[in-house]
Amino acid sequence: MDEMDRVTVIAPVNIAVIKYWGKRDEKLILPINDSVSVTLDTSIMCAKTSVCFGPEFTENEIWLNGVKTSFSNPRLVNVLDKIKNIAATQRSVDNAVLSWKVRVCSENNFPTAAGLASSAAGYACLVTALAKLYKIKTDVSVLARIGSGSACRSVFGGFVRWHAGVNADGSDSIATQIADSTHWPEMKALILVVSDIKKHTSSTVGMMNSVNTSDLLKYRAKYTVPRRTEEISEAILKKDFAKFAELTMKDSNQFHAVCLDTYPPCVYMTDVSHKIVEIIHAYNDMCGELKVAYTFDAGPNACLYLLDKEVPTLLKLIKYLFPTSNLDFVIGLGDVDGGDCKFLNS
Ligand code: ADP
Ligand code: DP6
Ligand code: CO
Repeated sequence: MDEMDRVTVIAPVNIAVIKYWGKRDEKLILPINDSVSVTLDTSIMCAKTSVCFGPEFTENEIWLNGVKTSFSNPRLVNVLDKIKNIAATQRSVDNAVLSWKVRVCSENNFPTAAGLASSAAGYACLVTALAKLYKIKTDVSVLARIGSGSACRSVFGGFVRWHAGVNADGSDSIATQIADSTHWPEMKALILVVSDIKKHTSSTVGMMNSVNTSDLLKYRAKYTVPRRTEEISEAILKKDFAKFAELTMKDSNQFHAVCLDTYPPCVYMTDVSHKIVEIIHAYNDMCGELKVAYTFDAGPNACLYLLDKEVPTLLKLIKYLFPTSNLDFVIGLGDVDGGDCKFLNS
């Protein structure tokens, strides 16, 4: 196979500090509120995706973590159609090439569908690889959003804001960088894997149920998030860790309150997750100031944000309090990443 017909990319995860939860448009994936996230170093967690095409393939195929899964998923179909349409308009490849089927092979080196942003890394990776394969010039963040909302933030490094926008066509629903990865190098993320089991309710279904049933979500989107988004952007720019930590923890808590306010309730955190919350509050109380922040996505696993000087003590404490778990409990210590999806073969 021609080297040009195969592209391999790695992409980072991002863990939100102001959560995206709820869509106003399911097809275009337009959110009901802004969100803010930190893109993590690809050396600890990443998706790695290879894409190729050729006249010899009879159907589109996707292999995820070694298992062949259906390409009929509308998100995948949408993303591929969109990319092929752009390729046709830009005449970036021959017409014959446009009729070829694709093969996608992707692996995450961390638990998939367990609340550690696999859909974000996965789709950021996929669209970056496909855009290169079809030689198109386009905004990959917008394409990534059509795969999974949170993925639009993973194509930028550092601290990223996804603006909900107001336009019906989604033209102003875009991600922008608040600050790049060099801005606050002391910031670290510690990922505590409580469980690597696939969540019962996907983020997509969970947030749809919340939009349909939760009054608290309406309040959150209208009153809480707009204020918090501004405040946390300012805290990031000023490197005000205590403010950043307070907003991050409060937002995680409100998001999980919305999940419980959903009918039937969506329970993502476990007893161990709640224990971690308790420990972090006790630690911060002992320090007399906010030194560590927890945040939980739609899953039981914790992401702790802290400054590097705090890491050794906190790691010791975690190992002391959870003596039966081995080091897999802590998946790793992430830096804030540069965010560029990296091409491995070109
Ligand atoms: P998470 O909390 O891990 O983001 P979600 O429920 O949001 O969980 O999304 C999980 C889904 O994302 C998977 O079922 C799969 O469809 C998709 N996904 C995860 N990783 C990848 C990947 N590397 N490439 C393509 N799609 C992926
Ligand atoms: C809790 O982006 O996974 O992680 O857009 O339906 O694919 P879809 O959902 P997804 O939702 C992420 C929800 C979250 C918060 C966040 O990342 O902002
Ligand atoms: Co997701």
